[in-house]
Amino acid sequence: MKLKLLHATPSSSPPLTFSAIQLLAALVLLISLPLSHASVSSMTYVPMGNNPTLYRPGAEPIMHLDQLTFTDTVLNQDHAFLVEFYADWCGHCRAFAPFFREFASIVQAWDRVVTVAVMNCADSFNTRVCRENGVTHFPMVKYYPRAARHPSSAITLEASHSGLQLRDQVARTVVNEFNQFRYPDWPNFIYVNVDSTTTYGSLWQGVAESADYLAIIIEQYESVSPQFMLDLSSRSHAVGTRRALASSPITQMLMITEFPYVALFSRDRQRAIYMNPYSANTLNELNNALANVKGNQPKVTVTTPRPTVPTTTQPPVINCERFPDRCRDMYFVSETDMLKAMYMALHDEVIRTGEVIQGANFTHLYNFVDLLAEHFPVLTFSNEIARRGRNDLKRSSSTILKNSERARLVFSHLREFLRTKSDLQQVFANDWEHHFNSVERVYAFPFPVNSSWQHCKGTTPQFRGYTCGLWTTFHALTVHTYMDTIKEHRVDALKPLKSIQGWVSSFFGCEHCKRHFMHMTTELFPMTSRRVSLRFLRTLLQGQLIFQEI
Ligand SMILES: *[C@@H]1O[C@H](CO)[C@@H](O)[C@H](O)[C@H]1NC(C)=O
Ligand SMILES: *[C@@H]1O[C@H](CO)[C@@H](O)[C@H](O)[C@H]1NC(C)=O
Repeated sequence: MKLKLLHATPSSSPPLTFSAIQLLAALVLLISLPLSHASVSSMTYVPMGNNPTLYRPGAEPIMHLDQLTFTDTVLNQDHAFLVEFYADWCGHCRAFAPFFREFASIVQAWDRVVTVAVMNCADSFNTRVCRENGVTHFPMVKYYPRAARHPSSAITLEASHSGLQLRDQVARTVVNEFNQFRYPDWPNFIYVNVDSTTTYGSLWQGVAESADYLAIIIEQYESVSPQFMLDLSSRSHAVGTRRALASSPITQMLMITEFPYVALFSRDRQRAIYMNPYSANTLNELNNALANVKGNQPKVTVTTPRPTVPTTTQPPVINCERFPDRCRDMYFVSETDMLKAMYMALHDEVIRTGEVIQGANFTHLYNFVDLLAEHFPVLTFSNEIARRGRNDLKRSSSTILKNSERARLVFSHLREFLRTKSDLQQVFANDWEHHFNSVERVYAFPFPVNSSWQHCKGTTPQFRGYTCGLWTTFHALTVHTYMDTIKEHRVDALKPLKSIQGWVSSFFGCEHCKRHFMHMTTELFPMTSRRVSLRFLRTLLQGQLIFQEI
């Protein structure tokens, strides 16, 4: 029997090989299936979605997250996360990015305690997870404690324009979490308590068994100790850290007079092998001391903060009255840009703001959709304001814009949908999203979400885009409302502006742009009927110039 089989083998070997490959393929499939469920990001992960990212995946110590990976990466982990939620089109996020980058490089060595990550909430791929995380403006910086089981456990930090301030905030937040949970594998942030019963061995409390060295930082009040201990946390298996207050007897024992101060002890020798005031160079000096003592190469990674030179670009402000020709180009309005912007404004931004759209937010959504349903331009139109002066606006041509016409039908349907909700003055974001998607389908997808920005295309993909599209549309809406109503002498110049202002205040994710806009429309140019006239159109135009560039 055995012999026979062996003999038969050569002739039947091709089909056998084939089925072996099939078996292998089946195995691979079996193995990869469960893996694809638990999608975890890594430092080299390239996020899903279509939008450009503000940070380069794999090239910086910043982890990229997306809808697929957020939950499995951030929640229920053995370390904390610091996540910046941004929008690639948001100027304030771009201005913030160098500081966040600086912060990420300073705290690179903290990664066993806290990982730095980012997510682009302007990418519609991530809309749902951004909403679940309560991302109401950009940039938004949140700390997810190690114990976080749910997005609501996150703590919002201030998006300071300083890498060092961000570091200090995170260090403080880490210490607060430690004080609550006392994780044994985090640096032991409890101040050393020295009294008559203290032994040398008791100083090593909370230090890993494997660590032969202990660095103690002594300070007068909680100042640099958290960051010092976190800087060394990735080496905790070799060098433990503790901290002590200047009032502790340890100060007298070591005869310290300057603070903060660092002393390094080795486990087998009951004396300090390094003692010096704390400085920016302390980590390097500790490295050298360790190398001398052990005769080995320095291993502590040192990240010295690089001074950053924030680049501020002044928005170009062009005087359109003096240089009408230079402004002409800016009056060019692209249908694609407006439709793309309105999709993001009504779909992505509205869905992102919360589970329920209610109260003032509901009213603002209704008024804005109403404005779009009534006055979203559906005919080509050449804007000649600068050329002809205020009282001579007229259409030079009137081709029907097919996509815009269908988009206006979508707006009308959405308005009807909101009317059915008007007694409760609320709509669930999920319902809004489903309704939007189905109406959009009915009218054969009039929003060219996959096309690139046209007039609003910037020098880099994340430049201008959405903000520019938004302001272009606001401007066009204002002008068209005027043109649509002047014939019947029922111009209410305030109404469209109020609708726009309402949408901005409830839904515009760019916090900085929102504040700027609200300031402009409430203080610089208050929207009262006395002040609002065609003059306001120019204000809006100038607003557009400013907003495009931030
Ligand atoms: C945009 O592209 C995605 C895939 O890349 C596709 O699923 C979607 O239907 C497209 N949307 C439109 C409106 O063309
Ligand atoms: C309105 O939306 C904002 C987010 O833009 C949110 O902070 C606020 O709580 C909402 N208001 C109500 C009444 O839901």
